[in-house]
Amino acid sequence: MENRALDYMKQAEILILGIETSCDETAAAVISVSNNRLAVLSDVVSSQIEIHKVYGGVVPEVAAREHVSRILPVINRALAEAGAALSIVLSPGRLAAIAVTAGPGLITSLLIGVETARSLSAAWALPLIPVNHIEGHIYANFIGESAEAFEFPALVLTVSGGHTMLVLMRGHGRFEMIGETLDDAAGEAFDKAAQLMGLGFPGGPAVSIKASEYRPAVPSPNTGLKTGRQGSEVSLPRPMIESNNCNFSFSGLKTALRYAIEKDPDWRSRTPAYAFEFEQAVTDVLVGKTVKAIKATGAKTLLLSGGVAANNLLRQRLSLAVGGEYGSLPIHMPAPRYCTDNAAMIAAAGYFRLLKGETISYDKIAVSPGMRI
Ligand code: KG4
Ligand code: ZN
Repeated sequence: MENRALDYMKQAEILILGIETSCDETAAAVISVSNNRLAVLSDVVSSQIEIHKVYGGVVPEVAAREHVSRILPVINRALAEAGAALSIVLSPGRLAAIAVTAGPGLITSLLIGVETARSLSAAWALPLIPVNHIEGHIYANFIGESAEAFEFPALVLTVSGGHTMLVLMRGHGRFEMIGETLDDAAGEAFDKAAQLMGLGFPGGPAVSIKASEYRPAVPSPNTGLKTGRQGSEVSLPRPMIESNNCNFSFSGLKTALRYAIEKDPDWRSRTPAYAFEFEQAVTDVLVGKTVKAIKATGAKTLLLSGGVAANNLLRQRLSLAVGGEYGSLPIHMPAPRYCTDNAAMIAAAGYFRLLKGETISYDKIAVSPGMRI
C-alpha cells in the first residue's frame, strides 16, 4: 500500500467488521479506529455454553450447526448496534474491511465464519483479512487503547482453552515463540479438573468460584492474597516450575489431582481445598515462567491474553510479581470480556494487518485449523 494511502488510513475513521467462530462462540463486532485509537462500536457474542455443558465439553458437530443458525443474526445485530452507536444506519459500504478468524480452531466451526465472510466480502465488495485467533487474543490488549500504546518488545502470556504460550512481540505482526505447553493448555487443565470434581463447564470460572470458598488456616502475611501450601490441606505439584526453559506442562497436574481425590474418601467435603490448590498450582507455574521469560528476553511490557487471563488470581499475582520484582515494568490485561473469545479482538488484529495491506481476495481465503503464530 502506498504511503499516502497509509497516512490517510491512520487519520480517517476506519470501521472494521470482525467475525469469530473458531470454537463455541458465534461472534461479530464492529470496531472504529480514528486518530490511531481503537474503540468498540458493537460486540456481539452468542455463547453456546449452555448447549455444550451437558456433554462436559465442546462437541464440534453441534458447535458447527449452532454457528450456521446464529451467524447472520449475530452479524446483523453487530452492524445495527454499531450504526446506533454512530447515530446512522450503517451500510456495508461504510466498512473498510471484514476480518475473520481463519485458524487455529475446530475446522467445522472455522468454516462457517470464513464462508460467511467470503460471501459478504464478495457481495459487498470489501477486502477480507484472515486473522490468526491467537493473534486476535493478543490484540485484545489494544482495544480502547492507542495503536502506539505499548513499548516493544512486549512479552505476551497467552492462556486459553487451546493454547498456553509465551510470545515475544517485537512489533505489529512480529511474533517469536518463547515457550509453550508440551501437552494440555492451562484452560484445558482447568476444564478437566472441574470435570473430575464435578464442578461443571467451563472449568476455569467454576474452579475459581469453588476455590474462593476455601479458608486456609494461615492467610498470606505480605499480600493479603491467599496463597497455596500455607495451611493447605492438600498438595499438588507445580510441573516444570524449576525447568530451565519457558515451556509448560499441565497434564501431570490433572493426573495428580485425579490420584489425590481417588485416594481421599472425603474429597467431596474438601472440594474447595482441592480447587484452591489447583488454581494456586496453575498460577504459580504461569507466574514463575512469565518472570523467567521477562528476564530472558528483556521485554519492556507484559501483556496478558486468552480466556484464562480473565482469572482474578492470575491477574493479581502477575501484577504483584512484575510490579514488585521488576518495579516499573508496565503490565496490561484486557477487560475480562475481551479475554474470552470475541470478535472485537479479531477486528483489532485485522486493523493492523490492513495497515500493512495484508488483505486477501474472497476466492483465495482458506481455513487453517492448525495455524501457528
Ligand atoms: O480464549 P477462550 O475463550 O477460548 C479458547 O480460545 O480456548 O478460553 C476458554 C478457556 C476455558 O478453558 C475456560 O475454562 C478458561 O478459558 N477460563 C478461565 C476463566 N474464564 C475462562 N480459566 C480460569 N479462570 C477464569 N476466570
Ligand atoms: Zn480463544
